[in-house]
Amino acid sequence: MLGLNRVRGYLQPGLPGVLLAALAIPFSGGSAAAQTASPVTYAKDIAPILQRSCENCHRVDGVAPMPLSTYEQVRPWARAIKQRTGIGPHAGVMPPWYVEKNIGIQQFQNDPSLSDAEIAKIARWADNGAPQGNPADMPPARTWEDASKWAIGTPDLIVKTQSLTVKGNAPDWWGEIPSVPTGLTEDRYVVALEVKEFNDVDTKATDGRQTVGGRFVFHHMIWNTRVIGANDPQADADPSGLVLNPGATNWPVHEVGRNADFFGPDSARLLRANSSIVSDSVHLHSNGRDTTAHLEIGFKFAPKDYKPKFRTAFVALGNGVDIDIDPNEENQQLHAYTVLTDNIKVLSFEPHLHAPGQRMCLEAIWGYNIQTLSCVGYDHNWVRGYDYADEAAPLLPKGTILHIIGYMNNSSSNKNVPDPRNWQGSGNRSVANMFIDLGNRVALTDAQFQEEMAKRRAQNPGKDVILGCPLCSLSAPSPRSSTQNQQQQQQ
Ligand code: HEC
Repeated sequence: MLGLNRVRGYLQPGLPGVLLAALAIPFSGGSAAAQTASPVTYAKDIAPILQRSCENCHRVDGVAPMPLSTYEQVRPWARAIKQRTGIGPHAGVMPPWYVEKNIGIQQFQNDPSLSDAEIAKIARWADNGAPQGNPADMPPARTWEDASKWAIGTPDLIVKTQSLTVKGNAPDWWGEIPSVPTGLTEDRYVVALEVKEFNDVDTKATDGRQTVGGRFVFHHMIWNTRVIGANDPQADADPSGLVLNPGATNWPVHEVGRNADFFGPDSARLLRANSSIVSDSVHLHSNGRDTTAHLEIGFKFAPKDYKPKFRTAFVALGNGVDIDIDPNEENQQLHAYTVLTDNIKVLSFEPHLHAPGQRMCLEAIWGYNIQTLSCVGYDHNWVRGYDYADEAAPLLPKGTILHIIGYMNNSSSNKNVPDPRNWQGSGNRSVANMFIDLGNRVALTDAQFQEEMAKRRAQNPGKDVILGCPLCSLSAPSPRSSTQNQQQQQQ
């Protein structure tokens, strides 16, 4: 009945009918015959899953509370593993990845989630006494060199911020940190980025908070890179006027528990020669123990002669003003809209909510065509960005309305809310609220947009409707009209 439980909480007026349809799909746990024919064992069935989707955190010296690399380490956790992998796309699920699999686009980069069949296998194994099986069936142990500790692979450049100490009883702090030179002597384009906090928290200690937040003190860093003091006429001028720091390259916000960014082959971002890491908005939050910490920013570069095809787009999608969340109530909705002024390829979806946040959906409205692109659960302990696979990244024409729907749970059933008797409004602290989609997007010219749609049609032969591409179902423009388009653009 797992499938039912997953969606029941969200059945309410105004939600797409697709969710209702999902109720009819039975949960596929494998046939009884298959179970008797080959019992599920740790060595043969479970170890490969744990190596792939858990060990990057659950290993000796990993971020998680216990390693899951050997049978001796795993056995005591068998029931907890069954429980935590079977939660569905909600707070508490392991691995922390909350994409709802019964609605929206399903192809993502670096998706660590387990398939329904794998989840069922783990449950069967735990229920059957968690047998080890034949050690000869074990896959070779995974090794974790320093390099493989980075999800982006060995970074080409690592820049470290200065160490700072947060006292165990310190109040929240927001402010500027000293800038750090990147040391880069030539312009390079960045295809992937990862920010990690290194600190002296004793992860074996049992005092202090046991959440992810208890292991870190940097709660966010809003940052950019720029050549300090340079008057750079080539600077990335931003026609939208939305960029606070013209001349700077803005990077995704670092947040506690957040995963790495992959910008895709055509959309790498510029890291200038002689630039520095600059941040005037770091949020430090005490974890209850005196903690000394710094961030390491890992950059993975494109080849030297690389030039990006698409320009980074600035789409403001959120509402920071009218947040109004009632006390003691689950399932409250917030809505925000924006009209796209460019043709946009959506590279990622990144719900940014705070403690009461439980779920967010992203919709594209084009005329009377409304598509739900993604719905994902949310746990403020685990901020996730979801990078769409290139062949599934939404292609939205200018004029499309993007709509986000936030689902807020300000009740005692949400463990992240300290006191649900409080009304909640907007604010910086985690107990106040935000409602934003921080996803990465690029702008496409009309010609590039046609080219991307042609590629998408070719990848989906015979499909009438391609989710995320509302104009793909129309035939490609004739050569004559595309020439007209180009002439119009040049005017
Ligand atoms: C991105 C890092 C990460 C990944 C990947 C991950 N975990 Fe975890 N896991 C954690 C952290 C951190 C905690 C403790 C905080 C929490 O519960 O959120 C945790 C908690 C747990 C717990 C509860 C431990 C307790 O004390 O009760 C279990 C069980 C667990 N993970 C199993 C798994 C399994 C199984 C997988 C893979 C299918 C997995 N985790 C993948 C980081 C991770």
